[in-house]
Amino acid sequence: MWRDVRGRVVLVTGASRGIGKRLAGKLASLGARLALTARSTDDLAKVAGEVRAAGAEAEFFPADLTDPADRAKLVADVVARFGALDVLINGAGVCSFGEFATSSEAIARKVLEVNFFAPIELTRLCQPHLTASYERGPAGWRPAVVNVASICGRWGIPSMSEHCASKHAFVAMTEAFRGEFERFGVDVLLVLPGLVRSDDLNRHLLRNEGKIHLDFEGAQPSDEVADGVVRSLLRNRTEAAIGFVSWWVWFGKRMFPRGVRFFMQRKVWKFARREARAS
Ligand SMILES: NC(=O)c1ccc[n+]([C@@H]2O[C@H](COP(=O)([O-])OP(=O)(O)OC[C@H]3O[C@@H](n4cnc5c(N)ncnc54)[C@H](OP(=O)(O)O)[C@@H]3O)[C@@H](O)[C@H]2O)c1
Repeated sequence: MWRDVRGRVVLVTGASRGIGKRLAGKLASLGARLALTARSTDDLAKVAGEVRAAGAEAEFFPADLTDPADRAKLVADVVARFGALDVLINGAGVCSFGEFATSSEAIARKVLEVNFFAPIELTRLCQPHLTASYERGPAGWRPAVVNVASICGRWGIPSMSEHCASKHAFVAMTEAFRGEFERFGVDVLLVLPGLVRSDDLNRHLLRNEGKIHLDFEGAQPSDEVADGVVRSLLRNRTEAAIGFVSWWVWFGKRMFPRGVRFFMQRKVWKFARREARAS
């Protein structure tokens, strides 16, 4: 199946920077009509301005997705402005990098709020509009929800426990939605990026104290990940691991899980030895 997004209304969350910002540009070039959301009004306005300057239609809707009132207003405003909603891309997210023993309940709850409760509740609000898109659309048209999770949703990575928990929950919900939404004519797609180079690591990470070695600077550019998300949407890929690291973990979990476990443990032993030497 090939999904043609020309003239389709696509709501992108997390559109103020990173992967979401790149997605806005790429979808605009495909002729989509864009509804962009995040909390940072100035950044969003800039992204929307760039999209419009490139000749596409875009509107921005500042919202804190962890706030139920903001979510409800967002969906109502998008439908009032565009008259429809055809695709939802759940891209907003945060991460916490640090060991669980020295983390806090506040961090665990915050990560779950942003990465799990916010997108699933937004999806609940969008579903009737996506169903309407299916019912009113031409033969063969399938609206979609694209969930940008993480390979952390398929394998628990040390020093990212809360993040992994939130993404595992999100992945499970995505799989359940996929079955349930079939009767609404709505496809539910899962995208699993690996480590991605952030525009602003300080805003992406609630905490940056992790001890295993992760090369944030050398990570995959968000532009490439956005390409992968767009490919998934156009080709209707049920699940896509994006980039070598993600694919390696995804494939390794299936084919040689003990090897992947050993690799993760080795990362922890390395930092434990480093600390022992330093003390
Ligand atoms: N970066 C990575 O290494 C990586 C790896 C795998 C998966 N991912 C996933 O990919 C997605 C995008 O990541 P990214 O690297 O593009 O991160 P990013 O650059 O930090 O962007 C995150 C986006 O989410 C928005 N956001 C955060 N909290 C929000 C809230 N409460 N309400 C509304 N919007 C909120 C941010 O906008 P405001 O701050 O303006 O609200 C921003 O637009 C996330 O789901 C992330 O978990 C990232």
